[in-house]
Parts: sequence; C-alpha cells; structure tokens
Amino acid sequence: FICLAVAPALRFNASTNVVVKGITIRNSPQFHLKFNHCKRVVVHVMTADSPGDSPNTDGIHLHNSQDVLIHSSNLSCGDDCISIQSGSTNVSIFNVSCGPGHGISIGGLGRNYISKACVSNISFRNIVMHNTTNGARIKTWQGGRGSVQGVVFSNIQVSQVVRPIVINQFYCGEKHKTECRNQTAAVALSGITFEKIRGTYKDKAVDIACSDNVPCRGITLSAIELTPAPNERPRTDDTFCWQAFVEFTAPMVPPIGCLKTEKLLNNKAQSNRDVC
Ligand SMILES: *[C@@H]1O[C@H](CO)[C@@H](O)[C@H](O)[C@H]1NC(C)=O
Ligand SMILES: *[C@@H]1O[C@H](CO)[C@@H](O)[C@H](O)[C@H]1NC(C)=O
Ligand SMILES: *[C@@H]1O[C@H](CO)[C@@H](O)[C@H](O)[C@H]1NC(C)=O
Ligand SMILES: *[C@@H]1O[C@H](CO)[C@@H](O)[C@H](O)[C@H]1NC(C)=O
Ligand SMILES: *[C@@H]1O[C@H](CO)[C@@H](O)[C@H](O)[C@H]1NC(C)=O
Ligand SMILES: *[C@@H]1O[C@H](CO)[C@@H](O)[C@H](O)[C@H]1NC(C)=O
Ligand SMILES: *[C@@H]1O[C@H](CO)[C@@H](O)[C@H](O)[C@H]1NC(C)=O
Repeated sequence: FICLAVAPALRFNASTNVVVKGITIRNSPQFHLKFNHCKRVVVHVMTADSPGDSPNTDGIHLHNSQDVLIHSSNLSCGDDCISIQSGSTNVSIFNVSCGPGHGISIGGLGRNYISKACVSNISFRNIVMHNTTNGARIKTWQGGRGSVQGVVFSNIQVSQVVRPIVINQFYCGEKHKTECRNQTAAVALSGITFEKIRGTYKDKAVDIACSDNVPCRGITLSAIELTPAPNERPRTDDTFCWQAFVEFTAPMVPPIGCLKTEKLLNNKAQSNRDVC
C-alpha cells in the first residue's frame, strides 16, 4: 500500500553513494527504510523489527533507484520485507531473513492505468522466510504499462509460508476492490526465474496468474521442493497457473500445470508497446 499521510522512519531521496549499516528500526509507524531516486546504495547489517500485524510497515522500500545492494539483514514487519517499485534496476539482495511479514515483492506495479512501470535486473539470493504470507512475489495492477524483465529468486528457504511463489497480474489492494476491473493492458512480465525454492507452505505452493492479453513469457521454475506445513488443513489446489509459459527443471514438487509451449501465446495481442 502507498500511504502518503505517514512518513517512513528513514527516507533517502535523490541521493547517490548511500551506505546504511548496522542500524535497527523498531516499531516503525510506516515503512522502515525508503529510497527514492537514489543511485549506488548499500544496506547491510540492518534490522527492521515491527509486529506482523502493524499496517504498511514495509521493511525496505525502493522506488526509482538503481545499483542497489541489500544484504546481511533481518527484517520483521507487517508488510513486504522488501518492496521493489517502478524505476528500479540493477538491484541485488542476498543473505536476508524475512518474517513475520508479507514476503519479498516486486510491485504492485502499473496502478491507475496511466502509470508505466519499468523494473529490470533484480536478484534475490539466499533468503530465509518464516511465517510470511507470501514468499517470492511479483504483483501488478490490471491496466498498467511497461515491463518487468530479468528477475531471479534463488535459494529461498521457506517455512510456514502461506504462498511461497506468486505472480499476480490481477493485484488489487484490499482497500481498492471497487477500482479494480479487468483491463486489456498490463505490465509485461518476462525472464523471471524461481530456483531452489524449498520448504513448507500453508496454502498454495505456486500461484501464478498472468494477464489474459499480455501473458507471462520466459518463466523458469527450477528445483522447487515445497511440502505442506504440518497440521495445515487439506487444500484443494496446491498450485495454480494461468496464462504463463513456464519451463521446468526437476525436481518440481508439487507438480504444476502451465502452458507447455509458447506457440499458444503467439496470437495474443501484446499491449506492451511502451518499451522501457
Ligand atoms: C525528491 O527528489 C526529487 C528530485 O530531486 C524532487 O523533485 C522531489 O521534490 C523530492 N521529494 C521530496 C519529498 O523531497
Ligand atoms: C540476523 O539473525 C541471525 C540469526 O539469528 C543472526 O546471526 C544475525 O547476527 C542477525 N543479523 C543482524 C543484522 O542482526
Ligand atoms: C505468525 O505471524 C502471525 C502474524 O504476525 C502471528 O500472529 C503468529 O503468532 C506467528 N506464528 C508463528 C508460529 O510465529
Ligand atoms: C550494478 O550495480 C553494482 C553495484 O551494486 C555495480 O557495481 C555494477 O556496475 C552495476 N551494473 C550495471 C550494469 O550498471
Ligand atoms: C541488465 O542485465 C543485462 C544482461 O545481464 C545487461 O546487459 C544490462 O546492462 C543490465 N542493465 C542494467 C541497467 O543494469
Ligand atoms: C552470505 O551467506 C553465505 C552463506 O551463508 C556466506 O558464505 C557469505 O559469506 C555471506 N555473504 C556476506 C557478504 O555476508
Ligand atoms: C478477470 O479475469 C480473470 C482471468 O481471466 C477472471 O478469472 C476474473 O473473473 C476476471 N474478473 C472480472 C472482475 O471480470
């Protein structure tokens, strides 16, 4: 969620060569740490520590920022542990623990139809997540423009995570249900890799829902080993896949049915004419 009424605990705007090291932010009123229009940023040995039910308390929020390294940090909060927003490129995140929280996310992108989102070259590696609602997630609103290209989620250890792997192109924030209608345009997703995602989930292991008009291309799932968390209620569908061409490399547990050939997508209109 974007809530402009309350400021983040710590914000950098239009700054270059920023290093944030060794700080702890506890019980943040809203985002813990935010970067907007920044270049060459390093965040490490950082702790965010807010309750799982505190609203809008993203751990680290990046907007329009490039050449960013985030590592060796523990993030506990009531929203996304790391949130990557439009205009972010060349971002590398590793050795981070997340939980409680909503997981690590790109988006929600492309809100309000007119907004064009461009996100590229983002990697998340060696992430541990415990008791989060999502694991590795990309979320876009219907009707957006632009693209997300070149994303790697690698070596993500999950435990008690509700939905470990999520692509949601029908994202609609809880407070905005009435604004959301299906649109033909969408932020185009391509070149997205999920590899070595292992551990336990509470509801759906893989939940991929791509746009009808701009299906996801070049999605790779590799070495996925997800099992239900103990004592979770039986579920009807452990996986969901819609309008996505996915390449698999074994093991793939549980199995998921996605489009097996990109040919099925060729006659779809592509509305991502706005090259980033
Ligand atoms: C952030 O920096 C941009 C670019 O310099 C400027 O236009 C904007 O007003 C700044 N925002 C705030 C909240 O200071
Ligand atoms: C993060 O948690 C781990 C495990 O508890 C600990 O070893 C590490 O020092 C913590 N890192 C920070 C930045 O507090
Ligand atoms: C998981 O997180 C929720 C929400 O913050 C919290 O209520 C619950 O106690 C946590 N459970 C565990 C096992 O940590
Ligand atoms: C990406 O960012 C890193 C610093 O985090 C920098 O060393 C590297 O040159 C950048 N790569 C590109 C292609 O700009
Ligand atoms: C993104 O990655 C590609 C392929 O590695 C590279 O050619 C390009 O320069 C990168 N762009 C940025 C902005 O880092
Ligand atoms: C990241 O974690 C790996 C594996 O635990 C470790 O080998 C590496 O030194 C860590 N990197 C940094 C920069 O702390
Ligand atoms: C939007 O499209 C999705 C996928 O085709 C469909 O499941 C959903 O029911 C549609 N929603 C509305 C409000 O029409």
